[in-house]
Amino acid sequence: MIKLQGLTRKFNGLVAVDGLTFEVGEGEIFGLLGPNGAGKTTTVRMLCCLIKPTGGKAFVGGYEVGKDALRVREIVGLLPEAPGLYGELSAYRNLEFYAKLYGVPKRRREENIERFLKMLGLWGRRDDPVATFSRGMQQKLAIVRAMVHEPKVLFLDEPTAALAPESAKTVRDFILELKQERRTIFLCTHNLHEAERLCDRVAITNSKLIAIGSPSELEQKFGPSRTEIRLERVSRKIVDAVRRLKHVKGVEVVGDKLMVEVEDPEAANPVIVEAVVKHGGRVRYVARAVHALEETYLRLVRESEA
Ligand SMILES: Nc1ncnc2c1ncn2[C@@H]1O[C@H](COP(=O)(O)OP(=O)(O)OP(=O)(O)O)[C@@H](O)[C@H]1O
Ligand SMILES: [Mg+2]
Repeated sequence: MIKLQGLTRKFNGLVAVDGLTFEVGEGEIFGLLGPNGAGKTTTVRMLCCLIKPTGGKAFVGGYEVGKDALRVREIVGLLPEAPGLYGELSAYRNLEFYAKLYGVPKRRREENIERFLKMLGLWGRRDDPVATFSRGMQQKLAIVRAMVHEPKVLFLDEPTAALAPESAKTVRDFILELKQERRTIFLCTHNLHEAERLCDRVAITNSKLIAIGSPSELEQKFGPSRTEIRLERVSRKIVDAVRRLKHVKGVEVVGDKLMVEVEDPEAANPVIVEAVVKHGGRVRYVARAVHALEETYLRLVRESEA
């Protein structure tokens, strides 16, 4: 559905996006991750035909970005970094304006506006001027705006950046619902926990592509594998015993937890638990350490900058 072939964008001397090549399939939720200034927004703006590439090519729904700009614009929706709504108009009028711009017929327009406003919990505020909306409400309204012509491909530039946890959850559920409708979602985010939960695949970029794959693939390939073992009580004897085990690369003690770095968790975990029990430890929980994508990300970005 989306195809990048050496996509590049220079601003004067600066290479903001450097030869990105990858594909995103129909119905996929794809995440673009990278540090500030990595070229995520620039990539999205090129794919939505708001700016032209200075090198390489890209296709959205089979149409070439830049060349078939009108066709591309018809099938994409965009939540930009800044919502950019008309403050003096009501939420409803804002949406109506955009839907008309896209030539959405009246009946369809009314249905879509109602459905999406309800899904994001803004229906009750539809007649209020947008200037009176909180930042998070404006962000949600901008997401509705991006969907009002029912695009096949939705680009979301940091959709939950301004949102409180319950609103972020509403937006995540909304995104998952769009996936059910086989829409393709391309999102830029700094929230790695969210990317891990939402995205089928992610690309980590820093102008250039650093890595691409499903979150768990990337974790397995590049990330440290850590097992978290919560004990009733941690003792020196237990820590030493675990540290001596083959396959164990390191042990860190955090409160009543052992954070054990291992190469192959499925082989190592049973042996670690045995050693803990043998040395008098009582195991309360064994789990894969969370935020693995975050650690993988930080490691990959650090290495790319070294
Ligand atoms: N219109 C422009 N003119 C000149 N430079 C630009 C322009 N737009 C972006 N850049 C530069 O391109 C680089 C990439 O910017 P971009 O906004 O794409 O990054 P980003 O990955 O979206 O970052 P963030 O996470 O902070 O949103 C930055 O160095 C930025 O200064
Ligand atoms: Mg950005």
